[in-house]
Amino acid sequence: MTAVIETRQIGKAYGTTVALADLTMQVMRGEIFGFLGPNGAGKTTAVKVLLGLVLPTQGAAAILGKPLGDIPTRRQIGYLPELFRYQEWLTARELLNAHASLMEVPQLERRPQIDAILERIGLSDRHRDRVGTFSKGMQQRLGLGIALIGQPEVIFLDEPTSALDPVGRADVRALLLELRAKGTTVFLNSHMLSEVESVCDRVAVIDKGSVVASGTLETLLGRFALRVRMEEITHAIRGFAERYDAAIEEDAVLFYGLDEARVPDLIAQLVAAGARITSVEPIRRTLEQRFLELLQKPDEDTTDRIPRFT
Ligand SMILES: Nc1ncnc2c1ncn2[C@@H]1O[C@H](COP(=O)(O)OP(=O)(O)OP(=O)(O)O)[C@@H](O)[C@H]1O
Ligand SMILES: [Mg+2]
Repeated sequence: MTAVIETRQIGKAYGTTVALADLTMQVMRGEIFGFLGPNGAGKTTAVKVLLGLVLPTQGAAAILGKPLGDIPTRRQIGYLPELFRYQEWLTARELLNAHASLMEVPQLERRPQIDAILERIGLSDRHRDRVGTFSKGMQQRLGLGIALIGQPEVIFLDEPTSALDPVGRADVRALLLELRAKGTTVFLNSHMLSEVESVCDRVAVIDKGSVVASGTLETLLGRFALRVRMEEITHAIRGFAERYDAAIEEDAVLFYGLDEARVPDLIAQLVAAGARITSVEPIRRTLEQRFLELLQKPDEDTTDRIPRFT
């Protein structure tokens, strides 16, 4: 796998404010990379540095193997800013056309491409309307459309669903999956952790300008576990549990690191061993629980019900 984005100890200070401390990470070709962190963690700053809009005060980075700010490489990059504001006096089509020209989309391809994008973002019937007359969510959709122009290899989306209704958010999820299917790399800043969990291949959590955790969702969340409650933990069940990576609780056995496909067999074996099962509870930490665990102080920990599996 090739790294499309690679940073080494990137830092950015605004006077005495350290927006980014020492960001080191890699984003691979074709993945949807979730970039998470609390307000002020440095996510938007990192995106701006990677796009070449803000100069880092330390460190080095490359996108598509080229140094940051390289102009021909910018034509391979799509971007939806966090605080989007487009030229109010242009119509949706004129705005998309202007960006198609910046991206050097060949003349003949512009119209079909823009029509397809308008359709994709649900604004086909508003293409003649001025951007200034659009609602906030419609402007964000338009921003997504702009990010798609020229079929860029890498797309940065800084909170792309912040203004969208639930249907719009579902549309963006579908769009992200379409982009992945085409091999596009997506760098996604988001606070919508359930969305991130449903689409991202890998994530990084940053705090105070540095990565505090990163990896695949499985690495970050731990594997699937199952709590099987039963009337009595007999000697036979105890022996059974010992052969598995399992913990015995007062009225339950907790099986860690399970492959979900093995659950029916496991239950059948427990019943055969004489267990009178009263409930079966699948357990998996959510990304939100993990996020809070990583960023809250231990005394605020909300995860005591969730087993820690490594
Ligand atoms: N132009 C600027 N001048 C001074 N400080 C800045 C500037 N831009 C960002 N900062 C500071 O850098 C820090 C990181 O800001 P940034 O916008 O990158 O956070 P973020 O992780 O995107 O937060 P949010 O989740 O709220 O969007 C903050 O303390 C912010 O005040
Ligand atoms: Mg931000």
